[in-house]
Amino acid sequence: MEYRKLGKTDLSLSAITYGAFAIGGTMWGGNEKKDSIAAIHASLDHGVSSLDTAPFYGFGRSEELIGEAIKGKDRTKIQLLTKFGLVWDGSNNGKGDFFFDAGTQENPVPVYKYASKANLIKEVEESLKRLGTDYIDLLQLHWPDHTTSIQETMEALETLISAGKIRAAGVSNYTVEQLKEAGQTIGLASDQVSYSMLNRSIEQDLVPFTLEQQIGIIAYSPLERGLLTGKYFKDAILKSDDHRNGYFGQFNPEKVKQFLAGIEPVAESKNASLAQLVLKWTSLQPGITVVLAGARNADQAISNARAADLTLTVEELNHIDEKLQGLN
Ligand SMILES: NC(=O)c1ccc[n+]([C@@H]2O[C@H](COP(=O)([O-])OP(=O)(O)OC[C@H]3O[C@@H](n4cnc5c(N)ncnc54)[C@H](OP(=O)(O)O)[C@@H]3O)[C@@H](O)[C@H]2O)c1
Repeated sequence: MEYRKLGKTDLSLSAITYGAFAIGGTMWGGNEKKDSIAAIHASLDHGVSSLDTAPFYGFGRSEELIGEAIKGKDRTKIQLLTKFGLVWDGSNNGKGDFFFDAGTQENPVPVYKYASKANLIKEVEESLKRLGTDYIDLLQLHWPDHTTSIQETMEALETLISAGKIRAAGVSNYTVEQLKEAGQTIGLASDQVSYSMLNRSIEQDLVPFTLEQQIGIIAYSPLERGLLTGKYFKDAILKSDDHRNGYFGQFNPEKVKQFLAGIEPVAESKNASLAQLVLKWTSLQPGITVVLAGARNADQAISNARAADLTLTVEELNHIDEKLQGLN
């Protein structure tokens, strides 16, 4: 495993960081508890020292599973990354930006983006409890909330750093403009954003800006939530309550299939899987500090951790670039 320094902080994160969205179960068709715990343990055993979660993932379940999995382990060897600012329990009393409904027609669960100081202070205490720890390594604003000033949220994050509750502060899904505004109040460690072979829009402006400012980029959904493993073009099927039934619809299946077939020989020549090749390529792109890889069970977690050990030659990278051009 390779470890990389996050922005200007003294945090060192594993280049492949574990993503704990799917093990929350909600939106992902559920997950067995024993598989989730095994995925976290396998990650830690294979050099993945950093774990990314959020209160929203499984409405607290993902954080609780991490708390349970790390109980009794050396806390100083693990980096816990979590978030705040998505409220689903009505505690915001309708304040904030309505985001989407995570429930059903009979059982609606309206989710709001809400980043007020009072909400942040409340949420971080709840996260600490669920995670079973007394500090968070990186606390990230999950999504921008247009009803709270950026200054208010950033000042609240500063307070938490001073209080020793968090080691560093980050954001997620922030634009360059929002990063610039936040930078007037705080030195942000990172921006967690969507980035994959199929979704490279951040290369235009976010990557150059963060490189210049030494802000880390934490890339999420590098496997496009499983699509880039190739298995959904073969025998894998989704449960009816899995959000990917809609999510995958944004991609052109024929083009993606053709692209994956074009890079598969590179993976095969290295005895690697497509998923491993995709993760390694993503982690090598300019400005990317770490790649978040979601895994539901130990097998996926081990495979993803081992992606860090792949080496890619210039010729192989050029071959992949050529195939990527065919996607556009
Ligand atoms: N900040 C944000 O707004 C935001 C948004 C999304 C994600 N994230 C973070 O980024 C992390 C990673 O993104 P993600 O979980 O959305 O998607 P991802 O990492 O692109 O894909 C994860 C999914 O792909 C499948 N998979 C993973 N490894 C595999 C392997 N080796 N072989 C076969 N299948 C494999 C698994 O689902 P199946 O087995 O069911 O196919 C897994 O749940 C999240 O867990 C979360 O921490 C953040």
